[in-house]
Amino acid sequence: MIAPSILAADFARLADSAAAVEGSADWLHVDVMDYHFVPNLTIGLPVVQSLRKATTLPFDCHLMIADPARWAPQYAEAGAYNVTFHAEAATDPAAIAKDLRAAGSRAGLAIDRDTPVEGYLDLLPHFDLLLIMTIKAGFGGQAFIPELLDKVRAARRHVDTGHLELRIEVDGGVAEDTIAACAEAGADTFVAGTAVFGAEDPAAAVRRLRALASG
Ligand code: DX5
Ligand code: ZN
Repeated sequence: MIAPSILAADFARLADSAAAVEGSADWLHVDVMDYHFVPNLTIGLPVVQSLRKATTLPFDCHLMIADPARWAPQYAEAGAYNVTFHAEAATDPAAIAKDLRAAGSRAGLAIDRDTPVEGYLDLLPHFDLLLIMTIKAGFGGQAFIPELLDKVRAARRHVDTGHLELRIEVDGGVAEDTIAACAEAGADTFVAGTAVFGAEDPAAAVRRLRALASG
């Protein structure tokens, strides 16, 4: 599954950017940053609510925000297909996952660059998706960190041996030269910002990425 990130799109033409990958992308990845959990600021609920009416693509909301217990369910209510929040920002991740599911979305748990995955493996049965950052969360266009794929491998082993129904998503620096390594490590869902919306033809870029991930 390929989820283009609108962080790399033209924020004045988000509906056009979504339309450019409708039919090629599986999900639209929406990065919400609050200037507190990360030093960057992007968009919030009003934009997600408006954009929801402008495309049929399912939304994969990635909340890089403080206090997800308070805000995350509202993204589910706004019609997000999946809502992912950061483990580092949550005191009771399983409770938030439960609230997200009750509000009508799937629940994702994100692990930032400096957070080991081991402490969260036992929580995975509460989730539909595990997002493993392959950069430090906060900005698009950063260089992929291959060492972080060790976390993907550990998660994949855990998911397979535990027979869990869970997507493993990678986010950050995923591009034509890195996506195959991500897939090999065990990721099945790929966020790509610059590699899609920085390309001349975003739809063609999505198709090339999918082909490279499928080996
Ligand atoms: C960064 C965001 C990413 C970002 C990735 O914190 O979570 O989704 O858009 O951008 P690229 O693909 O350019 O690294
Ligand atoms: Zn993201």
